[in-house]
Amino acid sequence: MRKPLIAANWKMYKTISEADDFVKQFVPLVKDVTDVDKLIAPPFTSLNAVATAAAGSGIIVAAQDVFYEEQGAFTGEISPGMIKDAGGTFVIIGHSERRQYFHETDSIVNKKSKAALRAGLGVVLCIGETLEERNTNRTFDVVKRQIAEGLAEFCEAEFKDTVIAYEPVWAIGTGVTATPEQAEEAHGFIRSIIKEIYGDLADEMRILYGGSVKPENVDEIMASPNVDGALVGGASLDPQVFSKLVKFRRG
Ligand code: 13P
Repeated sequence: MRKPLIAANWKMYKTISEADDFVKQFVPLVKDVTDVDKLIAPPFTSLNAVATAAAGSGIIVAAQDVFYEEQGAFTGEISPGMIKDAGGTFVIIGHSERRQYFHETDSIVNKKSKAALRAGLGVVLCIGETLEERNTNRTFDVVKRQIAEGLAEFCEAEFKDTVIAYEPVWAIGTGVTATPEQAEEAHGFIRSIIKEIYGDLADEMRILYGGSVKPENVDEIMASPNVDGALVGGASLDPQVFSKLVKFRRG
């Protein structure tokens, strides 16, 4: 049985005090929801504040990126150990915004993931096609390459600490959501690719959907058998709205 995971990616939003306020409002709203894992990924600057405010609540605290070296002359970068030190236990890697604006390749995504896992962090590894790739029928090729290269040389233990997030780039922040059929088709394909590489372990891997998830569409997206959760941007910034996603209707 895969436990659903509803994850907030705050992107470049919220100051420390705003992050602290959010968690203080959010924790009581979801304290009775024990059959869903909740994750919050604030900017690095609020990581420790969120970890402190969320202590004891069971909420998973994640960074939005990481560098693959543990320390050194890498101005501006943050290491896996620093994320742990700040109270994070997970990290989002390979988000399409990082691939698009910061030129992250599948090989960098793989190096970052391996380094994070080696340090004992869990990983949310993001994949997904652009509109142009979908319109030219390359969705499956792109997703297959991102999985094969992103997860390259993962051992069984590393694999078990990894969650995949399928985020079609054309659905991120656009208000356009993949239909439940499109999401299920992509998620089923992703699981079949993972199965080819890792066998039955694929049945344990959580695959989240991301892209304009909101209270109005979360129930139908979560009803798809291969969708195990959501990675949410815009609708994760308000505690009331995000709590509604955590309380999606079970089928
Ligand atoms: P939106 O929910 O704002 O579309 O963002 C999705 C996303 O990129 C989450 O990582």
